[in-house]
Amino acid sequence: MTSELVILVVVLISLQLHWGVDALGSASTVAVAYGTSTVCGISAGKKSQRIQCHRGDQVISILPQVSFEAISGGQSFFCGLRTGGFSLHCWETDAGFSNHSFQPKRIYYSTNFPLTDLAVGDAQVCAREISSGKAICWRGSNRVGSLFPSPDPALDFLTITSGSGFSCGILKNKTVRCWGNNGIGSKIQSQLGNLLMASLVAGESHVCGLTALDGVLVCKGNNNAGQLEVPSNSAHEYSDLALGTSFTCAIRQNNGVVSCWGEGANELNIEKNINVSVSFELITAGSDMLCGLKTNNLTIMCWSKANNNSPVVLPLGMIIPGPCVQDSCSHCGIYPNSAFLCDGSGNICKSCQRELPFAVPLPKSPNSSSNPGSSSPTKSINRLTMAFLIVGAIGALAGTCTILFCISNCLTSRSSCNTANNQEQNINQLSLIENSSARAFSLMELAVATNNFSSENKIGAGSFGVVYKGKLTDGTEVAIKRGETKNDEKTEDPQEKQNAFCSELTTVLRLNHKQLVGMVGYCQENDERLLVYEYMPNGSLHDHLHNKDGLLLNTWNIRIKIALDAARGIEYLHNYAVPPIIHRDIKSSNILLDGNFTAKVSDFGLSLMRQPETSTESAVGGTIGYIDPEYYVSKISTAKSDVYGLGVVLLELLTGKKAVFRDSGGGVPMTVAEYAVERIGRGELWNVVDKRVRGGEMKEVDAVEMVAYTAMHCVKLEGEERPNIGDIVENLEKAIALCSDELCDSV
Ligand SMILES: *[C@@H]1O[C@H](CO)[C@@H](O)[C@H](O)[C@H]1NC(C)=O
Ligand SMILES: *[C@@H]1O[C@H](CO)[C@@H](O)[C@H](O)[C@H]1NC(C)=O
Ligand SMILES: *[C@@H]1O[C@H](CO)[C@@H](O)[C@H](O)[C@H]1NC(C)=O
Ligand SMILES: *[C@@H]1O[C@H](CO)[C@@H](O)[C@H](O)[C@H]1NC(C)=O
Ligand SMILES: *[C@@H]1O[C@H](CO)[C@@H](O)[C@H](O)[C@H]1NC(C)=O
Repeated sequence: MTSELVILVVVLISLQLHWGVDALGSASTVAVAYGTSTVCGISAGKKSQRIQCHRGDQVISILPQVSFEAISGGQSFFCGLRTGGFSLHCWETDAGFSNHSFQPKRIYYSTNFPLTDLAVGDAQVCAREISSGKAICWRGSNRVGSLFPSPDPALDFLTITSGSGFSCGILKNKTVRCWGNNGIGSKIQSQLGNLLMASLVAGESHVCGLTALDGVLVCKGNNNAGQLEVPSNSAHEYSDLALGTSFTCAIRQNNGVVSCWGEGANELNIEKNINVSVSFELITAGSDMLCGLKTNNLTIMCWSKANNNSPVVLPLGMIIPGPCVQDSCSHCGIYPNSAFLCDGSGNICKSCQRELPFAVPLPKSPNSSSNPGSSSPTKSINRLTMAFLIVGAIGALAGTCTILFCISNCLTSRSSCNTANNQEQNINQLSLIENSSARAFSLMELAVATNNFSSENKIGAGSFGVVYKGKLTDGTEVAIKRGETKNDEKTEDPQEKQNAFCSELTTVLRLNHKQLVGMVGYCQENDERLLVYEYMPNGSLHDHLHNKDGLLLNTWNIRIKIALDAARGIEYLHNYAVPPIIHRDIKSSNILLDGNFTAKVSDFGLSLMRQPETSTESAVGGTIGYIDPEYYVSKISTAKSDVYGLGVVLLELLTGKKAVFRDSGGGVPMTVAEYAVERIGRGELWNVVDKRVRGGEMKEVDAVEMVAYTAMHCVKLEGEERPNIGDIVENLEKAIALCSDELCDSV
């Protein structure tokens, strides 16, 4: 009778801070409170990571002397985020100086909703709530009240930055959204358009950042002094950025040397005064001041007009180059000596961007490559390794990903989704159904549409029944999934069937994404349970690869595009659906193609279905050849189980082989993972790729290797070693970009 809510899986992927984005308005461990020429840093090697400031020739200890993880400066004030992000304090640097201390003001405290990404502009203070990604701002032009607007709380940001009178952030889909109380933000937002960004830093009235796809530095906004004129625009040339009133500075990735451009840069004479053999870990700017943390001894060096533009090393001792964290670091590793720098209270993670050009240990990449199109196979793999890293860095930036997977027993009633009852959850489900755009069809309508479910109209079988093609009276073609209640009653428990129907119905009604097959409606009459979906005229990927001649999918471009579409559909389920959904049956026959060969993920029948406690062997979900090896042991599906299934689909696309097949000698069946992974690892990718695909041009070769490399990681035995779906999407986007224009025909 009672309907239980069972929590199946809670996957917590801990927050990996993306570090190394510092400027006028972004969190760092060095802050410039300009106007008062005050520079502050978070001390290293002390029992607590406390703040010390330098102003005039004085060193000022900041109260309270507790650990801070980030600081950021504005005009005559700066703010700090306590370690853990649960409280935010600000200090005026033009007041209270006579008694050699700045007076703290706490402006935020919450143990439930900790913050990150502190971004102080000229007067506003913004930060991002870790759990929701929403940006919150305080203060404003006169530093009191709440004059500066916060953006729409529904917007989920990956990172934020603040300039003078405006702030900007990178959204989950990597596009930029700006807000504020002057017109600069909206101007910058429209100039950036739909450009996908990996990092973003604001100056007074311009922003710069690295693009997500290729790490190119782009700047937008006010260009009165040439501050937007990036001297060299090669991919992955720069890492950290610092922007002032009308200058831009960036650290070169390969040697840590700072270069600057724009009018202010000349005024500061930074170029002339920077010793090209001095390397910096990070840089940060005030309006007319630049400070950096020197790599050799982690001391702060600053240039400002007040110091006649010559560099000055501040007597603040060693400063931590990033926050001390308790969590483990991402694949970019731990900063050297960080246990010492944090005095035993955690570790500092390396900035991924900074590490790119250097050899960083990665999940084992193929040792060599027999790439026929490239003169330098090793180089090609290095490039791939790097691309994976970039993607990793972006993945890390994506921050917290909490997958809370709830199974509901659909409805308590034994027979019907429509039975009213007093369970709150059921009421929710009913209202979901009632409020959705899905139509309730009568059985008669659907029988007419399918010529009474004639066998000619049968187009497949899904997880809870047979699928028919139908034509509604208005001419719309639909796919109708019908639970087979009559014939197989012996083999399936009717309650289970009802659960499957309700599960799929309530799941799909919540979803709306162009890479998921959309629901048109449903029907429930007597014993009949039917779901009506949009019709996908080009059928399944499985059919094209394995049952037809495969010639409609004979370019790498179309195959990679299909892979990317499918990955985006899964990414939506994992990262954007609320609550997140694990599909549990990703396979090529569940990837359908519309009239333009755009791929969509279908068949949510196994999603959210069946409780682990009641599951028996017969309830094992999934399809042989695609099942996550970890699932056999744990009987728990995770997001990484879908990643495994997608990895198998990628291998099918690459090799043209079925998930499980017998080799030509008619030998024992083997999986495509067994067949391909080892060979690709040995550098024999080009021996296993599907020969039906035309091409083999240089750019295609890189793209295909990228897909192969991604696929290999997706089918790792240990779920933990598999990439997140977001990383996979990034890799496939990168592959598509490599496989550009004339070299890879588009369909
Ligand atoms: C420092 O000065 C401020 C304002 O001038 C005052 O409110 C505060 O009590 C002083 N603090 C100490 C420790 O004397
Ligand atoms: C990115 O997400 C925002 C907010 O969710 C949305 O308004 C915008 O249209 C999206 N942009 C793209 C290119 O998808
Ligand atoms: C630059 O720095 C290096 C290392 O600190 C030093 O050996 C060299 O003399 C410096 N050059 C100039 C021109 O200051
Ligand atoms: C750090 O290096 C600079 C020169 O590059 C030097 O002036 C300063 O004294 C050093 N600081 C420490 C704490 O060693
Ligand atoms: C990579 O290949 C080289 C030469 O084929 C071999 O010497 C080396 O041990 C291999 N490295 C790994 C990690 O397998």
